[in-house]
Amino acid sequence: MKTKVVIIGAGPAGLLLGHLLRAEGIDCVIVERQSRDYVESRVRAGVLERTTTDLLRRLGIDERLNAEGMVEEGFILADGAQRVRIDVKALTGHHVTIYGQTEVTRDLIAAAPGRGLEIIFEAGDVAIHDVVGSAPSLRFVKDGIATTIEAEYIAGCDGFHGPSRKAIPANGREYQRDYAFGWLGILADVPPCHDELIYANGEKGFALASMRSPSRSRYYIQVPLTERLENWSEDRLWDELEGRFAPLASRPVVRGLALEMSIAPLRSYVFEPMRHGRLFLAGDSAHIVPPTGAKGLNLAASDVHYLADALIAQCIRGDEAGLDGYEAKALVRIWKAERFSWYLTKLMHRLPEDGPFERRMQIAELDYVASSEAMQRSIAENYVGLPL
Ligand code: APR
Ligand code: PHB
Repeated sequence: MKTKVVIIGAGPAGLLLGHLLRAEGIDCVIVERQSRDYVESRVRAGVLERTTTDLLRRLGIDERLNAEGMVEEGFILADGAQRVRIDVKALTGHHVTIYGQTEVTRDLIAAAPGRGLEIIFEAGDVAIHDVVGSAPSLRFVKDGIATTIEAEYIAGCDGFHGPSRKAIPANGREYQRDYAFGWLGILADVPPCHDELIYANGEKGFALASMRSPSRSRYYIQVPLTERLENWSEDRLWDELEGRFAPLASRPVVRGLALEMSIAPLRSYVFEPMRHGRLFLAGDSAHIVPPTGAKGLNLAASDVHYLADALIAQCIRGDEAGLDGYEAKALVRIWKAERFSWYLTKLMHRLPEDGPFERRMQIAELDYVASSEAMQRSIAENYVGLPL
C-alpha cells in the first residue's frame, strides 16, 4: 500500500490533519489502534477556541457545531466567596464554544468517507520504519494480517502513549511538571448550575462546573493522586459539588445518574524535537497540558494547522521551508499554552507543597485580577486562544 502521508492516530489531531490534507487533494491514510466505537465514546474536554472552530468551518464540518455549539462569552474565577467574571467577549471581541471533543471526533469520522479519507481502525502493532531517509513506512497488523504502508511522510498524532515520540532517538528533551493531584470528573444529563463555567478554588481544593449542552453537565473536583474511584459514590460526589457550587452558582446543582466518572492526573509536558527525518509529531504525542483552561484539544488543533500548511506546501509546490520551520512555529504557541495552563492550575488549586505564603499569593493574585482590566484581558486573550 502506498500513500503520501500516513497518520498514526484518529484522535482530534490525526482526524483534523487528514481532513485538511484531503481538502487539498493529498493522499493520506489514518491508522488507529482502537475501534471506531471506542474512539467515538471517549469523554474529553469541551471548550473550543476560535482557532479550532475556524478550522472546522474551513473544512465545512460545522453543521452540528453551528446547530448545537453553545457560545460562551465569559467565565467565572472564584476563590472562597470572591467571584471574578472574565468577560471574554468584551475584553477580546471573541468567544469560546462549548462543544464536546467527543462530538468533534464523531463529526470528523462521519465526514471521512465522503472526502476520501481512509481510517483503518483496530490496527495493532503499529511500527515506524526508515523515517531518516527518503522512504519511510509504517507496518501494522489487522485481523491477523500484516500490512506495510509506504509513505513520504509520517504524522505522529498518536497521543501521549503512542509509538511516534518513542521513535525519536535519545537526544530528545523532555520538560515535565507532574502535579500531586488529579481531577475526579462526572458527566450527567442534568442542566448546568450556571450559564458560564465556574473555576473555583476552595478550602478543599479546586472544583469546576462545566457543561456540554443546556441539559448535560460536567463537573470536576481536585483529588489527591492516591485517591481511588471506588471511594466515591455518585452521592458523595454530588454532596461535595453541592457544597462547592451552591454559594457560587445561579441555580442549584441538579443531581443525575453518572454517564461517566473518572479520575485523571494533571501533567505539564513538552517534548522536543517535534521532527525526526520524515516523522512529525502533533498534539498530545508531543505535549500535555493540565486541563485547567481547556487547552489540550485546541493546542492539538493549532499544531495540525501549522503541520497541514507545511505538508500542503511541500506536496503541492515542492516547498520544504514550511516543514523545516514547523517545529519552531508550533513551539511558540505550545509554550504559551503551557504557561497559561500552568498559571491557571497554580492559581486555582491547593498544591500539597504550598504553604501559607503561597496561599496568600493566590488570594492577592485573584484580588489583582478582580481590580485590573489589564489582567482580565490577559486571561481572556489566552482563554479564547492566542492568534496563530
Ligand atoms: N497505534 C495507532 N494508534 C494509536 C496508537 C498506536 N500504537 N497509540 C495511540 N493511538 C491512538 C489513540 O488510540 C488515539 O485515538 O492515537 C490517538 C491519539 O488521540 P488523542 O489522545 O486524543 O490525542 P490528540 O489527537 O493529540 O488530541 C489531543 O485529546 O487527549 C486529548 O486532552 C487531550 O484534548 C487533547 C486532545
Ligand atoms: C470540560 O468541560 O470537560 C472542561 C472544561 C474546561 C476545562 C477543562 C475541562 O478547563
